[in-house]
Amino acid sequence: MESIFPTETTELTDAELIARYAPPAEAESWLRVNFVSSTDGAVEVDGDSHALSGEDDMRVFRFLRMRCDVLITGAGTVRTDGYQALRMTPERVEWRREHGLPDHPVMAVVTRSGDLDVSAPLFRNAPVRPLVITCAAAPRSHTDRLAEVADLVVAGEETVDFGEALRVLRERGLRQQLCEGGPHILGELTAADLVDELCLTLSPFLAGAGADRITAGPPSPLRPMALAHALHANGNLLLRYTRLR
Ligand SMILES: NC(=O)c1ccc[n+]([C@@H]2O[C@H](COP(=O)([O-])OP(=O)(O)OC[C@H]3O[C@@H](n4cnc5c(N)ncnc54)[C@H](OP(=O)(O)O)[C@@H]3O)[C@@H](O)[C@H]2O)c1
Repeated sequence: MESIFPTETTELTDAELIARYAPPAEAESWLRVNFVSSTDGAVEVDGDSHALSGEDDMRVFRFLRMRCDVLITGAGTVRTDGYQALRMTPERVEWRREHGLPDHPVMAVVTRSGDLDVSAPLFRNAPVRPLVITCAAAPRSHTDRLAEVADLVVAGEETVDFGEALRVLRERGLRQQLCEGGPHILGELTAADLVDELCLTLSPFLAGAGADRITAGPPSPLRPMALAHALHANGNLLLRYTRLR
């Protein structure tokens, strides 16, 4: 930690801000989870997260995407938040090339039901063939259709085994793993103790009762985390926590 006083994100150049999110050099692979919530802990407003996010959160959001090998998202979030194809702008492609990365990260969607719209831009306009991470119990009627637009990763029998899924991603060379949720995916990753980092933006709103937290699903023991930085910009608090080893 540099200071007990959070730094103004708006004073950081893009390069400085990007550098603040470098994964540890010694890590062979790294699972980072990124969320935004209201100050009172709501993960969505009227069903999706867009109202909670602003330009400062999006600035970090885009840089996190820019530096990942694979972006993992649950089917629930894909259905509610209207995911587009994961395509980098020319400036970000340039940054990725300079850092030895392929032009675009791979998109990976987690589903048991396989109930995803194969005609959605996420699949149809993808610059890189997406992955669908699923389990053996997923209905063939759905997975056959998904196999036309994505590579299937089958990890687990009745439900996706995230430890196995992340191992398969690593084998494919996808070592910088960014997960954008949603809450059920974070709950499972926490239960399996797989989260290396949580980036959390607290946005300056009270949302009131009703919404879920950023995590849902199975209970878990406490997972100790260390605060790597706290930045603030226009009332947003941008927190970066890493696993306490
Ligand atoms: N504030 C934020 O930063 C943020 C981020 C993300 C999402 N959200 C919000 O969160 C809400 C969606 O939450 P959610 O929890 O339903 O979404 P989610 O965690 O993205 O998706 C849940 C779905 O993922 C699949 N899944 C989860 N665990 C699985 C496992 N072990 N094996 C196989 N499939 C598994 C299932 O898909 P199938 O149903 O297809 O089987 C399940 O229904 C939305 O309102 C969204 O806006 C907010």
